[in-house]
Amino acid sequence: MNDQQPRRPAKPHRRPKKDPVRFLAFEALRAVDERDAYANLVLPPLLKKARAKGDFDNRDAALATELVYGTLRRQGTYDAIVAACIDRPLREVDPPVLDVLNMGVHQLLGTRIPTHAAVSASVELARVVLGEGRAKFVNAVLRKVSADDLDGWVAKVAPSYEEDAEDHLAVVHSHPRWIVSALWDALGGGRAGIEDLLEADNERPEVTLVARPGRSTTDELLTALGDENGLPGRWSPYAVRMAEGGEPGALTAVQEGRAGVQDEGSQLVAAALAAAPVEGRDSRWLDGCAGPGGKAALLAALAAERGAALLAAEKQPHRARLVERALAGNPGPYQVITADGTRPPWSAGSFDRVLMDVPCSGLGALRRRPEARWRRRKEDLENFAPLQRALLREALSAVRVGGVVGYATCSPHLAETRVVVDDVLKGRGGRPVEAEWVDARPLMPGVPALGDGPDVQLWPHLHGTDAMYLALLRRTA
Ligand SMILES: C[S@@+](CC[C@H](N)C(=O)[O-])C[C@H]1O[C@@H](n2cnc3c(N)ncnc32)[C@H](O)[C@@H]1O
Repeated sequence: MNDQQPRRPAKPHRRPKKDPVRFLAFEALRAVDERDAYANLVLPPLLKKARAKGDFDNRDAALATELVYGTLRRQGTYDAIVAACIDRPLREVDPPVLDVLNMGVHQLLGTRIPTHAAVSASVELARVVLGEGRAKFVNAVLRKVSADDLDGWVAKVAPSYEEDAEDHLAVVHSHPRWIVSALWDALGGGRAGIEDLLEADNERPEVTLVARPGRSTTDELLTALGDENGLPGRWSPYAVRMAEGGEPGALTAVQEGRAGVQDEGSQLVAAALAAAPVEGRDSRWLDGCAGPGGKAALLAALAAERGAALLAAEKQPHRARLVERALAGNPGPYQVITADGTRPPWSAGSFDRVLMDVPCSGLGALRRRPEARWRRRKEDLENFAPLQRALLREALSAVRVGGVVGYATCSPHLAETRVVVDDVLKGRGGRPVEAEWVDARPLMPGVPALGDGPDVQLWPHLHGTDAMYLALLRRTA
């Protein structure tokens, strides 16, 4: 099939009708593809503009969001289906045509939109944004796609599990194969676990709030939200879960910075570091990679309750400003500085607790960034590796003997988690460090399935959190 139809002098017999929801979703998909934009940053201003013009109500906004997020998340599966419906390689289809097609496939196979509506709306969109010739191509492809449902298509286009397990999972659950492989290595176990994990990456995460201790309470948040719109957190004593469609910014406690939006996994990491036993002085805490400030704000609130002070350091000035904003109004002493944690301005041995929540591939937060899995490359891990080791070494140098370091990532990839900690403890590629493991599991009380320890790996499919990793280490000499 060919999307390069010959130009015809005749005009289309009627003007194509612009459907604002699909047009906006297409605009967002183009921005993600052309400008490497993030869907979660591109979409809100587009929706705001459409609402201001009176084009959109809440249902339109929800549909546009579903079309953008669903199309991006399921791109791997949809690409394979489209490839089976055309007679040339997928890479020869122009990206805007592929966006219209994939969004059409999502409507056909991933939503309850009736077939005729999904096809005709996609063809109409193609007329507006691609022209009549390509609209015919879109029509022909989507008619083929509509001949089967998602399970039927997957059975046709994915290799069988027995033939090639990783490729099968990659097509069925729409992840790059190398990510399937890396996540499976980190998770271990058989088919059921990895399938649950990959499917959890395709779900939209709940919005979780944190009631910063001493400044707000979960009761305050639950009362403000009402029974319909709020639920207590699953694991963190500071967490409240919001019902879908809730607006965190509408809550007074959030407007005043006494509460914030924070994944429960991130809350658990900060709370576990704060709860780790240290002997003697406990008054100076450091967050060495603080931006944008979620964990720093919780740590600062916990530090204030104990009369300790938090120093929050961040390399990027604009992110340091976000940390300032997150910490504003904290009742105890704190300071935010712009600093490179690998060339720290602080003296060795000066802190009692240190958090290093290092830059990483973010493979643990794929639920939040629908396009991230297609952008990340295996090689990115090699780029992060020296920085992660250097930051952990500096964290262990910053803490006093007897003090505790928390090394955290928002990735479960072994090359960013256990391997980094083992390398640093064994002095590979640097000076040896005298430190011992602290078992992190008892510091997340009530949380099941934390693994064999002493470090902790959280998982979206098991805990409903991002796949945060935490290793706790105590300086021994
Ligand atoms: C995973 S994020 C931290 C998230 C943060 N802890 C939170 O909960 O909001 C890592 C941060 O480290 C910062 N960073 C990167 N290299 C750094 C360095 N050499 N020194 C200090 N911060 C650095 C990044 O700009 C980024 O803001």
